[in-house]
Amino acid sequence: MRVKIGEEIKEMRAVWFEDGVVKLIDQRRLPSEFEIFEARTTEEVAYAIKEMVVRGAPAIGITAAYGMAQAWLQKRNEDEAFEILRNTRPTAHDLFYALEKMKMAIKNGEDAVKIAEKYAEDIIGRCEKIGEHGEKLIKDGYRILTHCNAGALAVGDWGTATAPIRKAHRKGKKIFVWVDETRPRLQGARLTAWEMVQEGIEHAIIADNAAGFFMQRGEVDMVIVGADRIASNGDVANKIGTYEKAIVAHENDIPFYVAAPISTFDFSLKSGDEIPIEERREEEVLFCRECRIAPQGSHARNPAFDVTPAGYIKGIITEMGVYKPTEIGKLKREIHG
Ligand code: MRU
Repeated sequence: MRVKIGEEIKEMRAVWFEDGVVKLIDQRRLPSEFEIFEARTTEEVAYAIKEMVVRGAPAIGITAAYGMAQAWLQKRNEDEAFEILRNTRPTAHDLFYALEKMKMAIKNGEDAVKIAEKYAEDIIGRCEKIGEHGEKLIKDGYRILTHCNAGALAVGDWGTATAPIRKAHRKGKKIFVWVDETRPRLQGARLTAWEMVQEGIEHAIIADNAAGFFMQRGEVDMVIVGADRIASNGDVANKIGTYEKAIVAHENDIPFYVAAPISTFDFSLKSGDEIPIEERREEEVLFCRECRIAPQGSHARNPAFDVTPAGYIKGIITEMGVYKPTEIGKLKREIHG
């Protein structure tokens, strides 16, 4: 991804591995501060995932893969590293997908650093393919709504939901992006908008509650969101608030698409009811950064994800093409034979 730091423009990834250190753009303070977080131990990699230095399903997977490679270099027991990294965030499937692949490779005596690098390249390449398939759905002049950050920061590069948007923009299509602010962590206002600025894509941030207003007025042509886990029946877990966006899109006849690589599909789950939903600290709702916005004595609930039933989803844009939720069985056969 293109990152402008001062006057300098750099090609960077959200996470990379250098001299045995897992390096990450610290997503907690963006866009006001640009800092690189360095994780030197398995515990520090786990901290980075849990505290959302890095976030977004594919980027979490890549970070975990590098975490396993680091543990291997440090001659740490791989089962122990696996457990530490696994117990960080429960919803994003990519975490478990990456960890299983790495554990298997280490048990087979492979070079874990090479495997982790290959994993990162592969996921980013798959997301670029999502862009190529999804771009065809975007017409010139489209106004696209997205929720949370399913962009380059959530993947490493390209993004999932933003990959079709970036491809369309680079092809010269005139597009406009509605960016949901995404309370409580503001991944939309802070991160997606930051990426749109880096790419020079026209956009506006809207309060989460405003999406229905613009949909009802005919100012949204399509919705594309990412996913944290997709069940076999096409139910999709994504950032809290996605479900209600899907309902309002359906009500207003606006096509609602999900973009995700195969690593996000959990074919072992029959439906979204089985997806574990992370509930995070109440402070994320009670405070806006360091400022308490709720009265002393008030408590909050903070589910990080919700499940959008398959019936609201027009298509799932994957690296293998665009599938209706009812075609996931076909997709599984194409992958596993
Ligand atoms: O809690 P986060 O920021 O890790 O959640 C990420 C999301 O839910 C994103 O919206 C995304 O669609 C999944 S990652 C591409």
